[in-house]
Amino acid sequence: MAFTIKVNGKTHKVDVDGDTPLLWVLRDVLGMTGTKFGCGAGLCGACTVHIDGAATRSCQTPVDSVGTSAITTIEAVGATPEGAKIQKAWLEHDVVQCGYCQSGQIMSASALLASNPHPTDADIDDAMSGNICRCGTYVRIRAAIKLAAQASAQSGSR
Ligand code: FES
Ligand code: FES
Repeated sequence: MAFTIKVNGKTHKVDVDGDTPLLWVLRDVLGMTGTKFGCGAGLCGACTVHIDGAATRSCQTPVDSVGTSAITTIEAVGATPEGAKIQKAWLEHDVVQCGYCQSGQIMSASALLASNPHPTDADIDDAMSGNICRCGTYVRIRAAIKLAAQASAQSGSR
């Protein structure tokens, strides 16, 4: 069945079963492999994308549920104000180790910052708790989110 989905501002027609997870459509049909497969069960966060700005597990999102919502992936999140700040802070804190979980981490962190520009430690823990990192980069992730939030405060943005 054909579906029209909007990814990173572009419209794509895909011909797949309606229950196909968005993750597979992104990776296998559209060739956007920045979004990672970890558990396939909603437990690790590696597959996180934004749907209308909300951090969403794409492995648990059937393509027929997306409709006309705007999907943003790691390939384009750097073009958003929060994504740009998060990616800069990630580099400054040298967050990444093996990197496998990091697309999902950045997507969750940038969605957090967009909805809550000055998150507390508890807010960060709450928003990031579903993103697992087997390399244990959690301390650097939290520091980088705080740095990005400071950058938001200094630039006077929301
Ligand atoms: S691959 Fe989607 S949550 Fe793990
Ligand atoms: S950086 Fe290796 S799993 Fe997170």
